[in-house]
Amino acid sequence: MQSTLTLPEPGRLHVAIIMDGNGRWAASRGRPRTAGHRAGARAVRRAVEAAVEIGLGTMTLYAFSSDNWKRPACEVATLLGLLRDYLSEQSGSCLEHGVRLRVVGRRDRLPADLLRAIEAAERLTEGCGRLTLRLAVDYSARDAIVAAASRVGPGGASSPDRESFARLLDPAHPEGGAVPDVDLLIRTGGERRLSDFLLWECAYAEILFLPVMWPDFTRAHLEAALSDFASRERRFGALSRAASA
Ligand code: FPP
Repeated sequence: MQSTLTLPEPGRLHVAIIMDGNGRWAASRGRPRTAGHRAGARAVRRAVEAAVEIGLGTMTLYAFSSDNWKRPACEVATLLGLLRDYLSEQSGSCLEHGVRLRVVGRRDRLPADLLRAIEAAERLTEGCGRLTLRLAVDYSARDAIVAAASRVGPGGASSPDRESFARLLDPAHPEGGAVPDVDLLIRTGGERRLSDFLLWECAYAEILFLPVMWPDFTRAHLEAALSDFASRERRFGALSRAASA
């Protein structure tokens, strides 16, 4: 299905999503939290399909935060298993639709099967250029910034500026250049916080908090969010068009 939405910068927009509400979605149905995460994985597939058709440039999804290790072991295992399955099962479809998969975050604590799935999916879709789908896994924005800062100095970039520092934020993909700034950050599930997600990249992001629980998120929600985004005037610290006229 083609989109009728008019984007301000087709093919260039970066939308990031904090996919919250899986647990409450499940609880409201009397089901275990893991059922909510499985439904959440189905919503991920829908969102990626919609992002391709709408013409986004980059979409970053918060799949597993570094603080999520504090959850019960069976929930952690379910989440990491869903990620592995998503990467293994969807990488062929991503290739077909021009979606380049990238995983951001720490890799040294991930199970070997997930690591293999990440490496295989990234390799397979390396040449795709329609949409870059970034999955944040074992991700903490503050840790990413601290790690980038530790790469500054002797042997690394000295006296970095914003642009060159941003290139240090995703060391797994140095060839990818600077991580693009987020244009629109969406958080589902009704909570209003950033939860250590893309703190550098969201410096000038427009933010939208939606009451919908992530498993219920559809293409219509994404389109409505983008319409809202398109109606906002982004000033980046300068004056509004009206004030400077
Ligand atoms: C937050 O909801 C969601 C997560 C911690 C994980 C997000 C994971 C998925 C959507 C599924 C797997 C991902 C992929 C990419 C296949 P919560 O559990 O904190 O919800 P609650 O606030 O209602 O408890």
